Amino acid sequence: MNRDASSCNTYDYGDAVYWDARYQQEADSFDWYQRYAALRPFVRKFISTTASVLMVGCGNAVMSEDMVNDGYEDIMNVDISSVAVDIMRRKHQFIPQLKYMEMDVRDMSFFPDEKFDAVVDKGTLDALMCGTDASISAAQMLGEVSRLLKSGGVYLLITYGDPKARMPYLMRPSYNWKIALFIIPRPGFQRPEGCNTLEKPYLEPVPLTDNGLLLPSFVIEDPDSHFIYMCQKMDDSDLNNIAPYPLSADVL
Ligand SMILES: C[S@@+](CC[C@H](N)C(=O)[O-])C[C@H]1O[C@@H](n2cnc3c(N)ncnc32)[C@H](O)[C@@H]1O
Repeated sequence: MNRDASSCNTYDYGDAVYWDARYQQEADSFDWYQRYAALRPFVRKFISTTASVLMVGCGNAVMSEDMVNDGYEDIMNVDISSVAVDIMRRKHQFIPQLKYMEMDVRDMSFFPDEKFDAVVDKGTLDALMCGTDASISAAQMLGEVSRLLKSGGVYLLITYGDPKARMPYLMRPSYNWKIALFIIPRPGFQRPEGCNTLEKPYLEPVPLTDNGLLLPSFVIEDPDSHFIYMCQKMDDSDLNNIAPYPLSADVL
């Protein structure tokens, strides 16, 4: 999981010591994968500007600040790196819409159940899934995200992980999430010359099989695309309408 490519290249991504050192060395802000401008259509479509938002693994990205500049009123940012949290808290001390806390997303017991309307995750589940005990960490984090979401609330996951890699974790019946998938090309992606396929309507959800996988006929234009999973927490009464996913033992 380096800044551009689409796979883990170190186990350290799950380690606070790694991130502290990295944020100490790299003072400039950096947004992984995509900037807010590219994500804005999805954020604005699924998250109201009055929503209470939890940004998990905020790092030193500009995303939250951009959201405030776009009208968002209440964003709680958490990260396991005390270095990142200190830098960001200082930088945004005069922006009351932004709050920062050092926290491990696998244990967010500081917050009561159903505290947030929305949780935004750009690269943090990915970081955990590059670490040791990846499956356990991912399940712990997603269990916490599910607990913290209000009914009707949305978990917006921006990741390099395709449905094969992410759906087994997201489609747990106990979360009761209705999931829509969107795929956007990496920044700067150019269609190969002579390619005359129609431009994909990125704001349209991608059709999925009952198991949450891409249809075999579906073609991803950019092999380094980013995947946006919009997971909406449904009422218990809707529980029966969600197709169960065959989970392997390591996910449970
Ligand atoms: C790939 S970076 C993404 C940063 C930011 N969201 C962005 O879009 O640029 C992953 C972030 O997750 C944080 N992180 C890793 N493990 C974490 C954990 N267990 N709890 C909270 N944050 C974690 C790291 O410190 C890092 O800031």
